Amino acid sequence: MHCPLRNGIEWIGYVDWTIRDFHSYTTEQGTTYNAYLVLDQQNALIDTVKAPHGEDLLRNIAEVADPASIRWVVCNHAEPDHAGALPKILSALPNATLVCNEKCRQALSQYFDTASWKIKVISPGETLPLGERTLEFINTPLAHWPESMFTYLPQEKILFSMDAFGQHYASAQRFDDDACLDAAMIEAKTYFANILMPYGVPTAKALTAAGKLEIEMIAPSHGIIWRTHLPKILDAYREWTSGAPKRKVVVLYDSMWESTAQMANAVYEGAIHEGVDVRLIHIRRTNLTRIATEIFDAAAVAFGSATLNMWMMPMAGAVLAYLQGLKPSKKAALAFGSYGWSKGGPEVVHEALEAMKWDMISPPIKAQYRPTPQILEECRAAGAQLAEKALAAGG
Ligand code: FEO
Repeated sequence: MHCPLRNGIEWIGYVDWTIRDFHSYTTEQGTTYNAYLVLDQQNALIDTVKAPHGEDLLRNIAEVADPASIRWVVCNHAEPDHAGALPKILSALPNATLVCNEKCRQALSQYFDTASWKIKVISPGETLPLGERTLEFINTPLAHWPESMFTYLPQEKILFSMDAFGQHYASAQRFDDDACLDAAMIEAKTYFANILMPYGVPTAKALTAAGKLEIEMIAPSHGIIWRTHLPKILDAYREWTSGAPKRKVVVLYDSMWESTAQMANAVYEGAIHEGVDVRLIHIRRTNLTRIATEIFDAAAVAFGSATLNMWMMPMAGAVLAYLQGLKPSKKAALAFGSYGWSKGGPEVVHEALEAMKWDMISPPIKAQYRPTPQILEECRAAGAQLAEKALAAGG
């Protein structure tokens, strides 16, 4: 399978319709691993695919070029979803030399036995003439890994952007004007929130580097290719990398015997306010990926947990562990929950949110066994306070 981007430039990647767990990222819409072939006097393959799909990639290459004619294999990113098939691909391309930066070379040499590989290490800003066209390389460290880089094809104004601007979105269509744009934008945001959120500053730098280029097409390594709606995805990336919150309150909770659920509903009722987007989420009725995406741009979060074995609920712990790594921007926050005969859920959640340097609006709201009408009123008032904070902070 292949698809032309321009005359002599082909998408030859793999569409993975069935994947649902991408190292704990719930890929509800599957994904794609995009690889590209630039046909010129010297042919260049840009990126590969995940290891199990190496044969598919070789088949796609053979549809458009003699494998022996591939002179260069560019590795923009050493993560195995793009570099996993490199051993198979390089052994099948007898005249190919791998092109990567020094950090990428080091990472690949730890993943694979690279002793027999021909490798050309390129320096920042270096170019590689192919004949009619030239590849330019732009280091974009930590967008997503230290070795991450963009490859730019100036004659065609195409940016091969690796993970940036990507989406875990399987589609039979390859371009933004063919596929469902709304679905692609939702998955682009989900991708940013779950993959690039901790790297907002390096990703903003990569965006600035891209801003200096004339670009007519952005070809990421996941999902659809941007050629018609470039301003939409670039504006979205400017917003997402800024970390600016929206007027949004997320009420997130896990409950045992419905007491924390009652409290969550009371916080939710209190937070409902004109101009504020309020979401009520039961932690065990969704997944970490959706939760992180909702929290990513919220100005305020209420996080509830019942007490189980003098601790928080296990999935509440999983959410907190995930958020600690993703490092969402500062939020106004509240912890709440029920307990029986010892402290536990609400206190542990409060301490964890405080440790993330979120602004706690009050000590945790707690209910022993069942929330009284007075405690539910406290929850409503806290919800209203979070809505006010969201209105003041959000754009
Ligand atoms: Fe799609 Fe960071 O790999």
